[in-house]
Amino acid sequence: MSDREPHPWDELAATPLPDRSLFSYSAERDWPGYFRAVQGRDPRETLVQTLDRFDNHGCPPDPFAIDLGCGEGRDTVEMLRRGWRVLAIDGHSLALDLVANRPDLVHPDRLETRLAALEDVELPPCDLLSSSFTLPFCRPDAFAALWDRVVASVRPGGRFAGQLFGDLDSWATIPDRAHHTRAEAEALLAPFDLERFDEVQSDGEDCAGNAKHWHIFHIIARKPGTSDPTDP
Ligand SMILES: C[S@@+](CC[C@H](N)C(=O)[O-])C[C@H]1O[C@@H](n2cnc3c(N)ncnc32)[C@H](O)[C@@H]1O
Repeated sequence: MSDREPHPWDELAATPLPDRSLFSYSAERDWPGYFRAVQGRDPRETLVQTLDRFDNHGCPPDPFAIDLGCGEGRDTVEMLRRGWRVLAIDGHSLALDLVANRPDLVHPDRLETRLAALEDVELPPCDLLSSSFTLPFCRPDAFAALWDRVVASVRPGGRFAGQLFGDLDSWATIPDRAHHTRAEAEALLAPFDLERFDEVQSDGEDCAGNAKHWHIFHIIARKPGTSDPTDP
């Protein structure tokens, strides 16, 4: 028997990879299997490019980001590494345990984690709201209100980074997924200046190896105006 303290990665290591028939179906999402499948992956490209934009075009003092749907923390750790304060939010408690116990976690004093559902999460004002591959998992009837809160939370001069999923994606027929046509995605982004809006379609696999058609909008969007340093 080991004499060390139990660690959240133990639970992850003990989790079988997702059943191929389950992961695609929202009622039986196997998030621990997802966390295991993506463990150790690099931060998302949209996040890295957005952080670069702040570095190259001006970053507010003491920059604050929300990682909405943080998963096992690949983006959160990158933001912390680059000097941001981060509120990492996820609806799965294992995700938050994994983030807080990542071996590569730096500046843990700058990290706050919060267990919350997309459908009713409160979002404080932030300089960057990053939501990588997560927003489509919001229940469709709650999506419009969630998006309003996303838009409201990004300060003038701040950015949204992440993905929306398109209507031609294989998962678009799953009842509790929020997918959008290109025109709908563009309308959602109207409050922002678009710095990246790439529509990508490809045939590939999900993280469990299921064949899948991907239809994704990769987004970096800046809210017009300049940040007010007195805004808490
Ligand atoms: C596909 S993963 C993306 C994780 C991470 N951002 C990444 O890029 O790897 C989606 C994340 O959203 C969380 N999630 C899914 N549906 C949710 C919901 N309705 N409310 C809160 N979190 C949710 C899952 O637990 C998971 O961590």
